[in-house]
Amino acid sequence: MEPPPLLLPISLFILLLLPPSLITSARSPPTATASPSPAESPSSSPSSSHSTKSPSPTTNPSPSSSTSQLDPKQLRALQSLNIPTSKDPCRSLHPTIICDNSAPFRHLLSLLLSNCSDDVQLSITALDSLSTLTTLQFLNCPSVTPVHFPPGLASNLRSFTAIHSLKKLTGVFLSRLHNLTDLTLSAVIVNASGPSIILSNMKYLKSVTISQANLSGYLPKHWHYTNLTHIDFSVNRLIGKIPSSLTQLENLQSLNLSSNELDGEIPTSIGDLISLQNLSLTSNSLSGPIPNSLAAIPSLIHLDLGRNQLNGSIPKFIADMKELRYLNLEKNDFKGIMPFNASFIKRLDVFKVGGNANLCYNHSSLSPNVKLGIAPCDKHGLPLSPPPARESSDGGGGGGSSDDDDSGGDVQSENSTQQHSHGPSKVVLGVAIGLSSAVFLIIFLVLISKCCR
Ligand SMILES: *[C@@H]1O[C@H](CO)[C@@H](O)[C@H](O)[C@H]1NC(C)=O
Ligand SMILES: *[C@@H]1O[C@H](CO)[C@@H](O)[C@H](O)[C@H]1NC(C)=O
Ligand SMILES: *[C@@H]1O[C@H](CO)[C@@H](O)[C@H](O)[C@H]1NC(C)=O
Ligand SMILES: *[C@@H]1O[C@H](CO)[C@@H](O)[C@H](O)[C@H]1NC(C)=O
Ligand SMILES: *[C@@H]1O[C@H](CO)[C@@H](O)[C@H](O)[C@H]1NC(C)=O
Ligand SMILES: *[C@@H]1O[C@H](CO)[C@@H](O)[C@H](O)[C@H]1NC(C)=O
Ligand SMILES: *[C@@H]1O[C@H](CO)[C@@H](O)[C@H](O)[C@H]1NC(C)=O
Ligand SMILES: *[C@@H]1O[C@H](CO)[C@@H](O)[C@H](O)[C@H]1NC(C)=O
Ligand SMILES: *[C@@H]1O[C@H](CO)[C@@H](O)[C@H](O)[C@H]1NC(C)=O
Ligand SMILES: *[C@@H]1O[C@H](CO)[C@@H](O)[C@H](O)[C@H]1NC(C)=O
Ligand SMILES: *[C@@H]1O[C@H](CO)[C@@H](O)[C@H](O)[C@H]1NC(C)=O
Repeated sequence: MEPPPLLLPISLFILLLLPPSLITSARSPPTATASPSPAESPSSSPSSSHSTKSPSPTTNPSPSSSTSQLDPKQLRALQSLNIPTSKDPCRSLHPTIICDNSAPFRHLLSLLLSNCSDDVQLSITALDSLSTLTTLQFLNCPSVTPVHFPPGLASNLRSFTAIHSLKKLTGVFLSRLHNLTDLTLSAVIVNASGPSIILSNMKYLKSVTISQANLSGYLPKHWHYTNLTHIDFSVNRLIGKIPSSLTQLENLQSLNLSSNELDGEIPTSIGDLISLQNLSLTSNSLSGPIPNSLAAIPSLIHLDLGRNQLNGSIPKFIADMKELRYLNLEKNDFKGIMPFNASFIKRLDVFKVGGNANLCYNHSSLSPNVKLGIAPCDKHGLPLSPPPARESSDGGGGGGSSDDDDSGGDVQSENSTQQHSHGPSKVVLGVAIGLSSAVFLIIFLVLISKCCR
């Protein structure tokens, strides 16, 4: 039987007609992953927002309302600190200097020294003349050597800030500033045996940040600061347990103890911190369960417990926290079924649970397209192996950087992921394979029939 002579050209023609887009999308891997969530980028500005506000708005020192001049002693002190004084410093529109309105001479209330040149030196005489200051801030003055503040200045100061400034501070130096309500130290070396020696006399404290300061020792046992709302001791070398006495601070809104060497369990009384909005205990060596009392905190927005050795199951009540926007439980030892459904996860800006080898999700209530970094559960509530989170094992608790792209839960793109990548690529693959096998079959038949004529 003679095959129809047109068959070969026609089949080649069909092959050529196959749209290139079909061929290329069939080749691309069908598991296109979702893009990382933009909300995860760690915006780590060293200064906390509450600490850099311009001080004492109540004093209202409008530059033009007073005709008197700055106290000549204070003028000389400013000159000794390389601050230009050709114009009346009290009238400068920069918020770096704020004066009162007293007569015959005005006095300084607030001073910000920033980007200091290397020859700026603090002298006792200058600081003595500046004793009217209630706010003193150093920003980017790393070569300035601190000298002991004279008693007048030390007891008058309400707010003291040093960010990437001052060569080395000691606990004794800081402990003398006992009328402070705000203390902000960041990217400064603080040589002290622990936070207690710095803070124990500061009974009016409202906000304390001692971050990236190489601070060692234990957390204080006594917390008699009724008005304390912010604690940030992140990125230091603090050791030991979190004392349960800390939970007496019922006005505390933000507690950041991340990146230290704390161990033991989270105090079961943590729920007594009823004003808490932000809790970060990430990157320590904490163990044991998430305390049930946490359910009693109504206002929690930011809960970061990642990179510890916490265990047990993830409590269901977390799904009922109405204000929650940030939840990080990654790289712990949680086990069992993760109690969150898709609508809860969608509500969050950041959600991370990867790196918990014994944790799994219910695939009938969560789409497998949500990239969680954990495996789906089998019918016994155990992870189906192999868990997809292997890429996140990074050879020993390396620092907090470089791995924000691994097991992060990408939540927002679930919808688009399903629509654009997964569905179409499978169909295209099937069609392309089907078509090409048909074509090859035809070519094969033609060749056979030709050679066996
Ligand atoms: C806690 O401190 C770390 C490091 O300083 C910082 O990156 C993080 O944003 C802080 N967390 C909160 C909730 O403020
Ligand atoms: C200090 O220097 C930085 C850049 O190096 C600049 O952005 C900032 O405005 C300066 N601050 C002041 C108060 O001059
Ligand atoms: C600040 O401390 C001194 C003691 O050095 C004390 O006499 C004074 O009352 C305190 N000032 C205020 C406003 O609390
Ligand atoms: C910290 O202070 C102690 C005692 O004041 C001193 O012996 C020690 O050398 C200091 N450590 C550093 C790193 O400066
Ligand atoms: C706490 O704040 C209140 C109101 O601002 C104030 O009256 C009280 O003196 C403060 N207590 C302490 C110990 O600072
Ligand atoms: C940090 O503190 C340790 C001791 O606690 C000390 O050996 C080390 O030199 C300090 N680092 C800096 C940069 O001062
Ligand atoms: C909580 O942390 C967020 C950023 O993570 C910050 O914008 C907010 O001001 C913090 N709230 C408190 C009370 O510190
Ligand atoms: C959690 O770990 C502790 C030891 O760190 C262990 O005693 C405890 O039994 C563990 N709990 C669970 C539920 O695995
Ligand atoms: C998801 O979980 C929340 C909190 O547990 C619950 O209120 C809600 O009804 C659940 N939604 C669905 C669709 O199951
Ligand atoms: C998984 O979710 C489905 C539907 O939400 C539910 O019926 C089932 O009981 C869940 N399985 C487990 C083990 O919780
Ligand atoms: C999915 O996306 C479509 C439009 O792109 C939108 O109308 C729909 O509400 C989305 N569904 C969910 C569950 O977000």
